[in-house]
Amino acid sequence: MVKKRIGILTGGGDVQPLNAVISSVRNETQKYGIELCGFKYGWKGLIENDFIILNDRAIDPQIGGTLLKSSRINLSKIESGSKVVLENLAKLGIEGLIVIGGEDTLSNSFLINDFPQVLISKTIDNDVGIINENEILNYFTLGHPTAAEKISSFVSLDEGLRTTAYSHERIIIVESMGMHAGWLALSSSMGHPDFIILPEFGLDYNSFVERIADLYKFQKHIIVVIAEGARWSNEKYISADESEKDSFGHPRFKGASIVLANLLKSDLQKYFDTRNVNSVNPSYLYRSGKPNLLDLNAATEIGKEAVNYLAGNGNESIFITTSFDKDTLQIIKNTLSDYKNIDDLHRFVTKKFYDPEKQNVTIEGKEFLSKMINEHPQINYRY
Ligand code: F6P
Repeated sequence: MVKKRIGILTGGGDVQPLNAVISSVRNETQKYGIELCGFKYGWKGLIENDFIILNDRAIDPQIGGTLLKSSRINLSKIESGSKVVLENLAKLGIEGLIVIGGEDTLSNSFLINDFPQVLISKTIDNDVGIINENEILNYFTLGHPTAAEKISSFVSLDEGLRTTAYSHERIIIVESMGMHAGWLALSSSMGHPDFIILPEFGLDYNSFVERIADLYKFQKHIIVVIAEGARWSNEKYISADESEKDSFGHPRFKGASIVLANLLKSDLQKYFDTRNVNSVNPSYLYRSGKPNLLDLNAATEIGKEAVNYLAGNGNESIFITTSFDKDTLQIIKNTLSDYKNIDDLHRFVTKKFYDPEKQNVTIEGKEFLSKMINEHPQINYRY
């Protein structure tokens, strides 16, 4: 029996292809004659019965962000949170739910995993997925390809900061998003920064200063990419206010690029004039604007799969992932009950993809990234 009514919500940080998924889901539900209930502000809309019917809406898949708006709600911290959600779903006659989110939003799905759900991972951080023994089983989360393209272009010679860095002989520290995982920072390697600092591999500051001084002598300018959640080798965050954690326990990150630039300004003085050590934080620009083609196509296909699954008697919760067969995008369905909780779906950069000695990407890392984004030309150092 085809379901009559399904729900959809988006939670956590926005990414570029969210409306593209909503639009695809809406178009597919039309074919089945299913009513689509869009909950506003993520799980908050399900707690408060705040929703709109999406069937009659024209949704532009090229406009980034989410028309359903977003919030970060931890259902386990709300009294009877999951009970209220299940009651409201029943009252509204919703027979299946599509949840689009990152690790925090999707973690709530595990609290109601007997209810038929399709989990769709979106985050520019690319940290929700399956990685077995270094083998990436799903390629990317929605939003990551667009953000990866942006960060690599921001640092590159043909489109980004490399030109001003070499002209003014500057050291520029560029901040990437990524609280716990460094996939976005790693993807900047397609624009050729000199060093990349990830949360997964603590920074030994003294040897880093030596390496910067050595490279600057020869090259006269340097670009470093640092993830917001980067840590020192003693595990402490380079910059975070841990007194103010959110409901998922994340501290407020306060600018690792500024901290590092200020330290280098003072500690490199003995080698050269350090007036030209700067920091740049593109911040929300990584998440903003329209989706690139890969994100748009993936969002469209994932939206279709989600509806086809729920419409076709799909009663078990699933998690949808992306992969490539050669260069063709594949959409893979995984049963949610195979995973205990969201930690099983949280993945980090390993030494297969990143060389902590060189503080840069490995050959395998580049192969992984090259399926998603193009590499920029490298600098000719005679400039
Ligand atoms: O999880 C996605 C993300 O973009 C992280 O990289 C970043 O730390 C976080 O969201 C910041 O989001 P906001 O400022 O909206 O809370």
